[in-house]
Amino acid sequence: MYELPIRRLRIFDKPKIISHFRNLDQETLKSRFGIPVGPEFVEFYLSGLFDNATLVFGALPDSHLRGVGELHIVPDSRNSVAEAAFTVEPAWQDQGVGDALLSRIITAARNRRVREVHMLCLATNQKMRRLALKHKADLNLITGQVEATVAAPWPTPFSLAEEISGEYHAMARAILSWPQTEAEDVG
Ligand SMILES: CC(C)(COP(=O)(O)OP(=O)(O)OC[C@H]1O[C@@H](n2cnc3c(N)ncnc32)[C@H](O)[C@@H]1OP(=O)(O)O)[C@@H](O)C(=O)NCCC(=O)NCCS
Repeated sequence: MYELPIRRLRIFDKPKIISHFRNLDQETLKSRFGIPVGPEFVEFYLSGLFDNATLVFGALPDSHLRGVGELHIVPDSRNSVAEAAFTVEPAWQDQGVGDALLSRIITAARNRRVREVHMLCLATNQKMRRLALKHKADLNLITGQVEATVAAPWPTPFSLAEEISGEYHAMARAILSWPQTEAEDVG
């Protein structure tokens, strides 16, 4: 079965992340941040992306970064609560990329003993609501925004192995397609 390559993104992946956010249209950015935002806001946001306790995962269905999932551990929550956010490039939406990223974020949260993952989205965001429901989230409507809470069970040897094997799979793909990826990403 085809497994969509998803791997942890690090600070040296920043150029790829910036390029991914540049490929997002106004609608996607508004859905991501809850309000219309311009390039300066996105640039400022990305400058602090890896600060604090944030884990960033990337989906690379065609060896390029097409989707990003962020897991922000909420300070002072004794690491038990985190907030998740997602972006998938418009041309790659509705193809299971968001679903795969959400699964990986839940596994990562679980492995770090995070008990609750919160996701905020606009009430009109049917795709995110659908994904949250698929992953058994309780949805709370808060004036125009929907907060979805996904309970992350305690880690098991299987969930740890799942995250490690996911990393290995994506890494293997990246190495195999190295010359093409790097050459195309430069422009
Ligand atoms: C929300 C988002 C991350 C989802 O990613 P995606 O790759 O498009 O999602 P998937 O393809 O995995 O799943 C989308 C699901 O919504 C369903 N869907 C699509 N349009 C829908 C609609 N109008 N009503 C109900 N469900 C809909 C799809 O059928 C699919 O469900 P299925 O797997 O049961 O068929 C992506 O669309 C995105 O980046 N949106 C803009 C940013 C955003 O809203 N982020 C979330 C807030 S942080």
